Amino acid sequence: MTKICVIGTGYVGLVTGTCFADLGNDVVCLDVDETRISKLKNGIMPIYEPGLEQLVAQNVRAGRLVFTTNYPDAVKDTEIAFIAVGTPSGVDGEADLQYVRSAAEAIADLVDTPIIVVNKSTVPVGTGDWVADVIKKRRGGKPLEFHVVSNPEFLREGSAINDFMNPDRVVLGSTEREAANKVAELYLTLRCPIVVTDLRTAEMIKYASNAFLATRISFINEIGNMCEEMGADVKEVARGMGLDKRIGPSFLDAGLGWGGSCFPKDVKALAHMAVLHGTHPQLLQAVMEINRNQRRRVIVKLRKALGGLNDREIGVLGLAFKPNTDDMREAPAVELIHLLQNEGAHIKAYDPQAMENAGQMFPRLTLCNNPYEVAEGVDALVLATEWNEFKQLDFERIHELMRQPIIMDGRNLWDGDRLREQGFTYYGVGRAVNGQD
Ligand SMILES: NC(=O)c1ccc[n+]([C@@H]2O[C@H](COP(=O)([O-])OP(=O)(O)OC[C@H]3O[C@@H](n4cnc5c(N)ncnc54)[C@H](O)[C@@H]3O)[C@@H](O)[C@H]2O)c1
Repeated sequence: MTKICVIGTGYVGLVTGTCFADLGNDVVCLDVDETRISKLKNGIMPIYEPGLEQLVAQNVRAGRLVFTTNYPDAVKDTEIAFIAVGTPSGVDGEADLQYVRSAAEAIADLVDTPIIVVNKSTVPVGTGDWVADVIKKRRGGKPLEFHVVSNPEFLREGSAINDFMNPDRVVLGSTEREAANKVAELYLTLRCPIVVTDLRTAEMIKYASNAFLATRISFINEIGNMCEEMGADVKEVARGMGLDKRIGPSFLDAGLGWGGSCFPKDVKALAHMAVLHGTHPQLLQAVMEINRNQRRRVIVKLRKALGGLNDREIGVLGLAFKPNTDDMREAPAVELIHLLQNEGAHIKAYDPQAMENAGQMFPRLTLCNNPYEVAEGVDALVLATEWNEFKQLDFERIHELMRQPIIMDGRNLWDGDRLREQGFTYYGVGRAVNGQD
């Protein structure tokens, strides 16, 4: 049993701490956000993540998992401290390391026993060395035996527990092999490949992975835009491509583009790092530009279909950046709603989990209780997130409820031909069926 402290209880920290507790370790989850910790102490999850509430309850009951805002108590005698705080985008797209710095400084101030400091947050290449420097400087000559290990996280919101427990790989980087091996021991029971490398390579693996996945999505979106003009169907194209084992089917869904708390900020941060180091990230720039345009293309289609957007009623189904999460950070729906509202449209919306976040983000948004309430009286219905509950809707009822039967399927979720037969004007993404796109 290893004594672990996880600093930051967001999507990554809370899942990491809970899963390590479930693997039999003694875990303290620490956060500076009092409300978040008091909710957790009362068994209320501050985020929506399938299976999390039950796993937290189980491990709290077993006495392996505690939550606190008390730094000295949390880090005292800890053998391994995971830093899992946010690293949002700074003004120029760089990763803002202020929260990582304050966690590292707190460790320097409060710990006197040997400790391994693990960067689990996504941090720029070179941050491992920087954290070591921050701690050394802060100690001001007072000795402390510590090593820094990079252990980037690859979990996906919506399937975070499963991803943590069944990872494709665990990546560990350190200048001290022994420290990396000690962290590796925590993962041994998961029986997955463990890549042990140097600090900077580990940090780069995380950015390169996210940038590559974003590139695949932008690639298929660019192909989709060509399909619309050339009379092809991008869904079939992606299927035909994905069956090639060298390509594979994942991350080849044309749609509104990538969003969320990671891809946008990580691609931006990698491009920023590249420029700082004198290289020209031309592919990354194009990947970001295609993504921006993807949302705008939908607005253009809607404007054309409705003959202008001013005073139009638009319904939006799905607000979270993807299904099975309540996270709306950089969600395509957010940008769509902003753009539509800027052109004078009135928006009604529904999401199975993100309503609370949506209410805080958009005071002028009409929040509905279900897809049918959204459809009532609208001039167009836009699907922004492909939640399971949107797969099988009663379209006859929707047709009756809408003022104009125009559907913008931003995730290519529905059968366009069928909807057209039912009297809808249907637009998918990258699908030039019957010349309607
Ligand atoms: N969300 C994901 O799907 C995901 C996946 C892989 C990697 N990551 C990376 O993991 C990191 C964390 O992401 P997240 O989505 O969990 O962030 P988050 O914003 O959900 O949570 C961060 C938490 O850290 C807390 N915090 C901030 N400063 C602190 C401090 N000094 N001490 C203690 N707590 C502090 C905040 O109060 C907050 O609760 C980021 O670098 C992110 O890029 C995220």
